[in-house]
Amino acid sequence: MSTSSQQDATHLQEAARRHLWMHFTRMSTYADHDIPIIERGEGAYVWDSKGKRYLDGLSGLFVVQAGHGRQEMADASAKQAAQLAYFPLWSYAHPSAIELAERLASYAPGDINRVFFTTGGSEAVESAWKLARQYFRQMGEPGRYKVISRDIAYHGTTMGALSINGVTAIKNIFEPLVPGSVRVPNTNFYRAPEHGDDLTRFGQWAADEIERAILREGPESVAAVFLEPVQNSGGCFTPPPGYFAQVREICDRYGVLLVSDEVICAFGRLGYWFGAERYGYQPDIITVAKGMSSGYAPIGAMLASDKLIEPFLHGDSAFLHGITFAGHPVSCAIALANLDIFEREGLLEHVRTNEPEFRATLEKLRDLPIVGDVRGDGYFYGIELVKDKTTKETFDDDEGERLLRGFLSGALFEAGLVCRADDRGDPVIQISPPLTCDQTQFDEIEQVLRSVLTEAWSHL
Ligand SMILES: Cc1ncc(COP(=O)(O)O)c(C=O)c1O
Repeated sequence: MSTSSQQDATHLQEAARRHLWMHFTRMSTYADHDIPIIERGEGAYVWDSKGKRYLDGLSGLFVVQAGHGRQEMADASAKQAAQLAYFPLWSYAHPSAIELAERLASYAPGDINRVFFTTGGSEAVESAWKLARQYFRQMGEPGRYKVISRDIAYHGTTMGALSINGVTAIKNIFEPLVPGSVRVPNTNFYRAPEHGDDLTRFGQWAADEIERAILREGPESVAAVFLEPVQNSGGCFTPPPGYFAQVREICDRYGVLLVSDEVICAFGRLGYWFGAERYGYQPDIITVAKGMSSGYAPIGAMLASDKLIEPFLHGDSAFLHGITFAGHPVSCAIALANLDIFEREGLLEHVRTNEPEFRATLEKLRDLPIVGDVRGDGYFYGIELVKDKTTKETFDDDEGERLLRGFLSGALFEAGLVCRADDRGDPVIQISPPLTCDQTQFDEIEQVLRSVLTEAWSHL
């Protein structure tokens, strides 16, 4: 590194320490070592301010589907900014939002044809809950306002979305929360409280729990069920066979809306445009963000069925909700360029073709004593770490803290792999690389994990 770039790096480090407030971050962690500053990206790799290369095994934050450093996305952005940098979607439309809405509707399953743009995932979830509430008011069922979601599920951070969260550790401090949010069990088969020997029956039980919750709360008070196709938080809980079909039936039986929160799972993460398509169910609403633009600009959306917009198409009715930057022209233009890349390079097919090899490569890690489970679908996996494989004994809070924050997070990054060591449920490593990755990156991920997890075990 030249002297001037060394000075730049030092200045950045000092300015970050002094002025930047990082999200969900214990700032004290960086009292005695550097804040990682990522400066550049190309394909599946990023480089820090000291020039060190990392494999981006988490696509930033489940975002960069098409990989880093795509010049055509930068070009699309410049072109749109020059033509029309900003105009709101409040009473006006602009071509890039219209084109993107049409395109998303063409990909979305069934009668999901309406696109309400947001700037990210929390706003999409927030919008979905607000739509459900206003929709039922307009339909003469004002008592329906509650939502049902699953234990440990993450649905965002704004007060409404936070209330839908099942991650209690990030909720309690903000109480009182928005009333009317109810939890049901997730589909963690590895730790199934019932039917641990039969995946299908376990799935039936988990879906039945949704019905029981609706009956307990009173069906006339329940507006919507929010579920991810694969639940991220807790470590990639996939749906058991028949689970979503049964949930759909339950929602229909009680007139409850089914919201598929696909902020992570859409746009190829599971090898399809939408996770609902992969698992064959028809939601009423799909919430998306992250991969829609591969992170080249912030954008999210709530995609709604024809049924849900219907009461808003007449008279003086309007959905009383809006966000200044939602459907920003530049973000829409970038999202369109991103979807062009998906189509031209066949990214969905690429994931479907390579998924078995990816899974098989990660499954090799099962021979390590610390690896209890490897689960997920598409390019989206969680590896659960345990103290004892036979009994599935997990780590206590102190051990988890030492293992994840004290060792693994730093060691994996040191070893050149960006991934996530998470303990919102039981401790897991999460892997979610760009959709362009193939066996070269799968092997690299496996090798880093093998060496760091082996070392972690020796520290226990
Ligand atoms: C399923 C799900 N919903 C909502 C969100 C919130 O999205 P954002 O961080 O863009 O607000 C996330 C973020 O990770 C998510 O995974």
